[in-house]
Amino acid sequence: MALRSQIIGCGAYLPERVVTNAELAERLETSDEWIVQRTGIRQRHVAAPGELTSDLASHAARRALEEAGLKGAEIDLIVLATATPDNTFPATATKVQARLGMTQGCAFDVQAVCTGFIYALATADNFIRCGQARRALVIGAETFSRILDWGDRGTCVLFGDGAGALVLDARRDEGGAARERGLLSTHLHSDGAQYDVLYVDGGPSSTGSCGFLRMQGKEVFRQAVHRLAEVVDETLVANRLAAKDIDWLVPHQANLRIIDSMGRKLGLPPEKVVITIDRHANTSAASVPLALAEAARDGRIKPGQLVLMEAMGGGLTWGAALARW
Ligand code: ACO
Repeated sequence: MALRSQIIGCGAYLPERVVTNAELAERLETSDEWIVQRTGIRQRHVAAPGELTSDLASHAARRALEEAGLKGAEIDLIVLATATPDNTFPATATKVQARLGMTQGCAFDVQAVCTGFIYALATADNFIRCGQARRALVIGAETFSRILDWGDRGTCVLFGDGAGALVLDARRDEGGAARERGLLSTHLHSDGAQYDVLYVDGGPSSTGSCGFLRMQGKEVFRQAVHRLAEVVDETLVANRLAAKDIDWLVPHQANLRIIDSMGRKLGLPPEKVVITIDRHANTSAASVPLALAEAARDGRIKPGQLVLMEAMGGGLTWGAALARW
C-alpha cells in the first residue's frame, strides 16, 4: 500500500526584538503609512546579535517535536529551507541535527528563497513516499536582517527573521485517497531566466562576500500574482477540487496586496486566509510554516480540513502544496 506524509507536529519561533515601522522611519525616509499601504507590514522581528538561523530553526524544531510527542533521535530526515545559512557550508540542517540529538538518516538544506519551505516539504514528502525516510522535520528558517541593505528603503522595510517547522510521519494510505489526512500533492516550478529580478549581489563564488538583497519590486509583484494563480489552479486540478473546497489558504507572506488578490481569485472570504505579514513581515522560507503554526495553535486549522499553501521567491521559484490537516 502506498505511503503518505501525515503532519503530526508544528512549531514556530520568532526572535524577541520587534522593530516597528515607526522605528525604521527614525532612520530612513519612510513612514508607517507608506509601508502599511503598500505592503500591510506593521512590524518585523529581528534576530539578536549572535542569534543565528540555526538557533531559530532549533527552537521551532523543538516545539514541533514536542507537539508530535517525539524526540530528535526518532527523526531520520531534516530538510531545512534557508537562503541565510549560518555558514556557506556545512548545511545549517546538520547543526540543527546535532542539537536535536538525531543520529540516524540525513540532514540537508534546500535553497529556493521564499519558496524554500514548499520545496523542502515536497522533498521530504517524496523521501517518505519512497520509503527512504519515516519521520521528517521540515524547517523554514531565516535571518534576512543579515542580508538587507538597511540604507535601501525599497527593500529593508519588507523583511523579518523567524523560523517554523513541521514533523511528517509516514503512514500507510488506506485507499481513501483525498479523504485521508496528510500531504495530498506538491507542485514546484522555477524560471532561471528571471534570476536578476530578485537576488543577492554577493556569494562565495561571485564576490567572496555575503552581499545584499536586490529586487525589482514591481516586476516581482507582477510575476507573483500571475505565477501563484497558475500553480494554485494546477494544484486544484491535480486533486479534482474546486476553490470552494479549500478550508484555508496559507500563502507566503510577501505583500498583503498579493495575498488579497489570491484570496479574491479563489473566492475565499478573508477569514479563510491566514495572515501574519502585519506582524512578521516577509520571513522568506519561514513565512508559510510560521503562519501554519499560528493558525494550528489557535485552533483555526482543524484536523481533516484542506489547507492550501503557496509561495514565490527568487530564482524565480514558485510552488504550492495541498494538505488534509
Ligand atoms: N518608503 C517610502 N517610499 C518608498 C519606500 C519606502 N519604504 N520604498 C520605495 N519608496 C518610493 C520609491 O522610491 C518610489 O518613489 P518615486 O516615485 O519618487 O521614485 C515610490 O515609493 C514608488 O516605488 P515603487 O517601487 O514603484 O512602489 P511599489 O508600489 O511598486 O511598491 C513594493 C514597492 C512594496 C516593493 C512592491 O513593488 C512589492 O511589494 N513588490 C513585491 C515584492 C515582493 O513581494 N518581494 C518578495 C517576494 S519574493 C520573496 O519573498 C523573496
